[in-house]
Amino acid sequence: MADTFQAPRGTRDILAPESERWHRLVALFGETARRAGYRAVIPPMFEDLAVFQRVGESTEVVRKEMFLLAEREGEARQALRPEQTASVCRIFAQHRPATPWKVFYAGSNFRYERPQKGRYRQFDQVGAEVLGTDDPDVDVECIALAWRFYQRIGLTRVRLLLNSLGDGEGRAAYLESLRRYFDGHLDRLSAQSRETLATNPLRVLDSKRPEDAEIVAGAPTMVEHLSAEDGAHFARVRAGLDALGISYELAPRLVRGLDYYTRTTFEFASDALDAAQNAVGGGGRYDGLVADLGGPSVAGVGFALGVDRILLACDAEGVFGPPEGAVEVFVISTVDGTDALELCDALRSAGIGADRAFDGRSMKSQMKAADRSGARVAVIVGEDERRAGQVSLRPLRGGGEQSTVPRADVLAALRSLLGGDRADDPGR
Ligand code: HAM
Repeated sequence: MADTFQAPRGTRDILAPESERWHRLVALFGETARRAGYRAVIPPMFEDLAVFQRVGESTEVVRKEMFLLAEREGEARQALRPEQTASVCRIFAQHRPATPWKVFYAGSNFRYERPQKGRYRQFDQVGAEVLGTDDPDVDVECIALAWRFYQRIGLTRVRLLLNSLGDGEGRAAYLESLRRYFDGHLDRLSAQSRETLATNPLRVLDSKRPEDAEIVAGAPTMVEHLSAEDGAHFARVRAGLDALGISYELAPRLVRGLDYYTRTTFEFASDALDAAQNAVGGGGRYDGLVADLGGPSVAGVGFALGVDRILLACDAEGVFGPPEGAVEVFVISTVDGTDALELCDALRSAGIGADRAFDGRSMKSQMKAADRSGARVAVIVGEDERRAGQVSLRPLRGGGEQSTVPRADVLAALRSLLGGDRADDPGR
């Protein structure tokens, strides 16, 4: 007997109705983003490895988690995307669209992580980026877009954590003071953090290792070192959030897992999820990334939200349930199936969700299938109906009498039976 194959470690098979809830969420995000003037962009699933290396040589994402694509000979030069911001910047550098360039995207990303609930090797994000302006109002617009999206799907237990990582001189001075501070406590840092310190002291702030906790808690913060210009930028971001009534917590040690950030950084944490995987989204400004990828020197800001984790949070909060099936009518044909074939086609073309049974099943078995389908009405064509040019309509839910109508009137009769509350929602 052949082996039974399993989904690869860190991946999930997503079946209905969860898969349909998934599509609904992604569609809703697209609609929300388009309403704010963002247009869709579809980056490739893989890029030259060097593109992704720009997200930070000292990050776990680049050092340990990249899915490299094997070459026929020699070393891997391409990798599956671990995120999409770097690709969006590469696309900007290549195509030079007019600015501000406001885009959104949705799709899978790949990181070779240790899988657990809410952490997968293939996971999906929806996200948005704005290139070509460093106006702090854009930072606010991005944060608000994500925030309103969480609200729109009904999540209430999401918190916004906010920080500024500065840029330029302030940043250099901060890195110096951070390095000095950690150098003074080397003996109390984990071996991994001592190694990270050499490449990027900011990353040490991101350490989740318990042995680092105390030293990290006492580290100097960027906010104390912001230049006048970066301080004003950050103040404007905060004032904008206040004006929109979006509450946030200042998180002076929030650094995030990627290295390209400058100035504003933020994360969305869900209190409905386990603390280890509670980030349902994150983002920030990356004013140097496009230039790093060979493009012009343009500012950028954006965010990505984890679809898998958002849906876990929805489960935990009991909101945004899976959509119902789209079948409204089940056609039962006891002669030879031809009526079912024709009627289903006609109903579907008229915009009514219709399904049927196959394999010449008995009336009883077809009725069972009709019940399982979630349809509200069964259209029945037996010998008698066929001969008389009629169909019988039997309500399956909510009571009501069976009736018989001329076959030519079936659409009108069904429309009146299904009533005005027929959902034209594409998610159904
Ligand atoms: P990130 O924080 O690495 O940022 O990922 C954003 C979100 O993706 C996380 O908050 C989380 O919800 C989800 N996520 C990340 N890794 C996994 C995983 N292994 N399994 C499940 N969900 C995961 C970025 O990717 C940046 N590109 C965000 C950004 C856009 N910054 C500026 N623009």
